Amino acid sequence: MIAVPMPHQLILDSTEQIWADFRIATLARNVSQPYGLLIGYWMGTSGGKIAWLEPQPPRLPKVERASWIWGKQQLLTPGLIDCHTHCVYGGNRADEWERRLSGESYQTIAASGGGILSTVRATRLASEEALVASAALRVGSFLAEGVTTMEIKSGYGLNMESELKMLRVARRLAVDFGIDVEPTLLAAHAVPPEYHGRSDDYVQWVCRDMIPAAKEHCTAVDVFCESIAFTVAQSTQVLQTALDCGLKIKTHAEQLSHQGFATVAAKMGALSVDHIEFLPEVDCQILARCGTVATLLPGAFYYLRETQKPPVKRLLAEAVPIAVSTDCNPGSSPILSLRAAANLACVLFGLTPEQAIMAITRNAADALGIAQRCGTIEVGKDADLAIWDVSSPAEICYALGGNPCVASFKRAKRIRTQFLN
Ligand code: NIG
Ligand code: FE
Repeated sequence: MIAVPMPHQLILDSTEQIWADFRIATLARNVSQPYGLLIGYWMGTSGGKIAWLEPQPPRLPKVERASWIWGKQQLLTPGLIDCHTHCVYGGNRADEWERRLSGESYQTIAASGGGILSTVRATRLASEEALVASAALRVGSFLAEGVTTMEIKSGYGLNMESELKMLRVARRLAVDFGIDVEPTLLAAHAVPPEYHGRSDDYVQWVCRDMIPAAKEHCTAVDVFCESIAFTVAQSTQVLQTALDCGLKIKTHAEQLSHQGFATVAAKMGALSVDHIEFLPEVDCQILARCGTVATLLPGAFYYLRETQKPPVKRLLAEAVPIAVSTDCNPGSSPILSLRAAANLACVLFGLTPEQAIMAITRNAADALGIAQRCGTIEVGKDADLAIWDVSSPAEICYALGGNPCVASFKRAKRIRTQFLN
């Protein structure tokens, strides 16, 4: 049972709301119903936090001081969390998609100067204003579908000026939309043209200059460990430097081949290892032991027409928390819907809808290290909420297209999905 504070502990002020006549999918661990569902409960939010959750209607003086939100039996869930995006970028790579559809591989396109490096060229050329404006359209789509927290990576600048520009854009989006953004430095995403053939020198620059300069502007550091990007030794160096600077760490790992970095990163304390199509089954228990989240990115799997699937059954058997994210980016996963990513995780990777919804709420909060404040509906957490016009929680990720999200709230304040500046 959820701990309900006694009425005298409640701080009643003008910022109090009462949420009535909702079905509440708490996603909380300690509620045994599927989706942590509570029927017939009443909820109070105060000062932007969830203050109480009770099976009885509220009594005076709660009733007098609060504003009321009536649910008409709609579903209330935690706000969705997209824990892995590259949604700030210049340009567009639809042409590469056409090339891939006629047989070229992601790797060959990257080797010929396309792929990530083509977006790097466009992002370096784009002004900060232009990046804010283009990313705002994408962020607006996420928010319209109930997302209240997003991770946004750099990684298309690959020099001091443009990496910092991307991180500033991420912060501005958070402020302008009134949501939480976790900005992540991904300077080790690809070797930039000026370091061509000198990847060790680039990694040294990232560790000596870039990470220390970015540490006030990001909360985590990511690295792309792959045959077309950085080696295990180089990736280790990047994440170790991040730890030394007091930052959280995570990694793109085992996406296109098995490099063996996911377990190295897990042992270093990575919050999550992302993609992991080529993670060997036996490594799942290491993730479990280290408390590392496995973040699945079915959008990239789908767009790259991969066939090797992540070891989902084994991850579940070892009780590794699974998160799902859009990986929103202009190349491997141009997906602007976290609901669609959850749907792909069910259809392509075999998650149940309940596991998929858990993966875009509670486990996504774990993947960002912010579960103390969001990811579930529990007393004491932020009132980050989404209202859905659905008859069952599975409908959140059932249809592709359409949008059953009626409204969403960040710390009890209605989120607007239009960019006003
Ligand atoms: O997560 N894998 C590396 N990075 C991105 C792709 C970025 C791009 O293609 O622009 C990903 O899939
Ligand atoms: Fe990614």
